[in-house]
Amino acid sequence: LDLPEKSNIAVADNAGGYASLAVLESGHVPVFCDVSEENFQINVTDLQSLVGLKAVVVTHLYGQAAKIQEICEWSLKNSIYVIEDVAQALGAQVGDKKVGTFGDIACFSFYPTKNLGGIGDGGAVASDNSSIIDRIRVLKQYGWSERYKISTTKGRNSRLDAINAAVLTEKLVKLDAENYRRRLIYEKYLESDFNHSLFRNRNIKEDNVVHLAIGTTNKKSDLIKHFQSHGVQIGEHYPHTDSSQSGLNYLSILRPTPIASMLCKSNVSIPIYPNLTDSQIEVVRKAIYTWNELGE
Ligand SMILES: Cc1ncc(COP(=O)(O)O)c(C=O)c1O
Repeated sequence: LDLPEKSNIAVADNAGGYASLAVLESGHVPVFCDVSEENFQINVTDLQSLVGLKAVVVTHLYGQAAKIQEICEWSLKNSIYVIEDVAQALGAQVGDKKVGTFGDIACFSFYPTKNLGGIGDGGAVASDNSSIIDRIRVLKQYGWSERYKISTTKGRNSRLDAINAAVLTEKLVKLDAENYRRRLIYEKYLESDFNHSLFRNRNIKEDNVVHLAIGTTNKKSDLIKHFQSHGVQIGEHYPHTDSSQSGLNYLSILRPTPIASMLCKSNVSIPIYPNLTDSQIEVVRKAIYTWNELGE
């Protein structure tokens, strides 16, 4: 983006560190932003209170769309670039537009566990700004402006493996069906959560994607043990805020992010992926049901 060195770039403080790492790697400064309790996404009011920003990374966390239209309108007025992180949200929409088409640039991950998962690492970048795309094309292949002519610094080899690309092309056709299956599984989990002990995010919009099934609890270790006793492994996305991590906060602008901190302490990730068999789903449902029965 040709930003001046050490530009301030806002990131959501609960988004797993990926955005902060990228900001630091590019020689800039992450500014940690709090998130909303209602949807776990970057808090627009907190974001708008920041001054001196050059860009914001909007992570559509867990497959749910952040308030991207509002953020883009505000950013445009304030000459702030918007980078959408769509790693977890491929297929999600706001109105009739897919997430990843609102900001200046969108980043995608094809890591095997993602909605469109490949057979190894891989990713993509999209933009409707041709000068940004031209620059990315140069950077992804050694900084070549033409074959063997290295015309810019910081070029690298970032090509998508051809076999992986072929697999991803085949799998793309199934993306909507697989996202639909994730949604059906989540709805089954919600049915079992009859006391609302686990899922506070019960009304994920129809056009969003349930990439992860995130529950919250004040008794995380009890919950993990309970699910383990049913043979269900619980994940945490993510246990630490970016601002609390020594590998990320050394250059950064630290600010209070109470909601992100609270969510990192309380979140649990219940297994969800399209290939779960019906009997596996029933095992998870039983664990959810009995957790509710415990009155937790
Ligand atoms: C929200 C988010 N952003 C970025 C990434 C990084 O993607 P990759 O592993 O393909 O670099 C991930 C991967 O886990 C992610 O979940």
